[in-house]
Amino acid sequence: CGIVGILGKTAVASQVVDALKRLEYRGYDSAGVATLECGRLERRRAEGKLRNLEEKLSRAPLSGAIGIGHTRWATHGRPNETNAHPHATDHLAVVHNGIIENFRDLKEGLEAEGVRFDTETDTEVVAQLVTREMRAGKAPEEAVAAVLPRLKGAFALGFLFDGRDDLLIGARHGAPLAIGYGDGEMFLGSDALALAPFTDEVTYLEDGDWVVLSRGGATIYDVGNAPVSRARQKIQPGAYMVDKGNHRHFMAKEIHEQPEVVGRTIAHYVDLATGTVRLPLDLPFDFKALKRLVISACGTAYYAGLVAQYWFERLARLPVEIDVASEFRYREMPLEPGELALFISQSGETADTLASLRYARAEGQHIVSVVNVPTSTIARESAVVAPTLAGPEIGVASTKAFTCQLAVLLSLAVAAGRARGTLSAEDEQRLVKALVSVPSLMSEALKHEHDIELLSRDLAKATDVLYLGRGTSYPLALEGALKLKEISYIHAEGYAAGELKHGPIALIDETMPVIVLAPHDAIFEKTVSNMQEVAARGGRIILVGDERAAREASVETWTTLTMPAMDPIVAPIVYAVPVQLLAYHTAVFMGKDVDQPRNLAKSVTVE
Ligand code: G6P
Repeated sequence: CGIVGILGKTAVASQVVDALKRLEYRGYDSAGVATLECGRLERRRAEGKLRNLEEKLSRAPLSGAIGIGHTRWATHGRPNETNAHPHATDHLAVVHNGIIENFRDLKEGLEAEGVRFDTETDTEVVAQLVTREMRAGKAPEEAVAAVLPRLKGAFALGFLFDGRDDLLIGARHGAPLAIGYGDGEMFLGSDALALAPFTDEVTYLEDGDWVVLSRGGATIYDVGNAPVSRARQKIQPGAYMVDKGNHRHFMAKEIHEQPEVVGRTIAHYVDLATGTVRLPLDLPFDFKALKRLVISACGTAYYAGLVAQYWFERLARLPVEIDVASEFRYREMPLEPGELALFISQSGETADTLASLRYARAEGQHIVSVVNVPTSTIARESAVVAPTLAGPEIGVASTKAFTCQLAVLLSLAVAAGRARGTLSAEDEQRLVKALVSVPSLMSEALKHEHDIELLSRDLAKATDVLYLGRGTSYPLALEGALKLKEISYIHAEGYAAGELKHGPIALIDETMPVIVLAPHDAIFEKTVSNMQEVAARGGRIILVGDERAAREASVETWTTLTMPAMDPIVAPIVYAVPVQLLAYHTAVFMGKDVDQPRNLAKSVTVE
């Protein structure tokens, strides 16, 4: 979901919608805008895409020079127009990201006082609470200050007040919010990206901050209502490269960008001249002293962590404990102080990952995060930030962020191996050479796009697809299945190839495509046995492997996608390319909205 607020000079509704478009990539299912028309609050809201809202605005325009807008991804209440933001009373309109956890209690209290609710949303409770304070005679600022401490959960808010043409109030509590500075204009946005067309100077609010905006500037208050000053930052112009280039979809652009951005990321962590890893990080711990590494993340970032588990254990002999963040945060895992906890996140705002980080920090762990948004909350709360230099990722299904995460994680694992004495200088040279070859290997892999596109037409007919892999190809099988189901809505499962016989083999018949990810590595022969088990039951095997693997597979495959030969250590990074392209082309062939798949959000700031 996204929040935008503008204190402008002329009618702002279309600017608000333009800004919301830049946040479309976060995923949403309804949208709305509110302005003041001759001082009175007016709203337009619509279910579905922003073009529906634009249509409404063209039939019934808004002319106010102050406004707020929102794209909503439903949490409480169905994604319809009634539940769309802004929510309003006769005193104010409010837009909100995140969840007010205690809204039921608050709502009951208000209903007992006779307040009637129009919607099923948690947001309306905020509108009603602030209105109640204003009815009791408080000014908008005082009313908001009185209500904020009563709200539990992770959220960001933007308020517009009836009759107040020069006032917006924003609040940040666990979900990001930024202020933008213009010339006699001011802006509010859940993401600086939204504000890019209007300003290049922003302030990211700190957690607990709230802000009073007028055209003359901003007054920021901290959680204790004391005025505070927060740094203004210039945004790099390059940070706003959000066009699709020559591609039909952002996802296609981002898949094709990988050789470049993965290359950029690798160059950040290795010294190309000496062929050694050189971490540009100030580590407050010694890898050598560590007994254990814990890793936590969500979705695709979690699968990057699973690959890294193999790398850290194999290359650095460092035991790894990994879990999805939604479990990790509540597991109450005993952690010995002074150990290392690693968090992986594209957005750096994922609520569960952030909560896991805070748990680990409270347990005395050193916190390292691998993030793509360096200004994000997770980045700011980490002792060490290892950036992925993927650039803004707009497609909801993560692609380039994933491969950049892998590049960073492999660099870290090699550095750990060197520090712990489990890798020799020669090993390091070999591994760095393999890493440095990844961008060109990815370019090679991209050349199979046409074959993959043809293959996807058959895959589109399937109702279920199985992905198999061993070793680091196992997490990639999980990622392959996730990508396919996310954007094509075909049911898919990833399995460790060796687990095939413990269940999924029962599903195999001639209608079931089985995608086997099998570079010719040390355990290739084992995967061949599993392929034979599939072939014997009439399963249709799509082998993704190198030439040698294809030659030695000794089973009849339906199709083989031949990847270039490479050091198997980097195979999960390169093999991600055919896995992503297969999902992409299948979904495009089926006519699905690949950049904004149904029900999914780019940045999940709720539990
Ligand atoms: C959402 C996105 C996924 C992403 C996951 C974790 O589910 O749709 O693509 O992998 O969140 O997000 P993060 O920003 O923490 O990597």
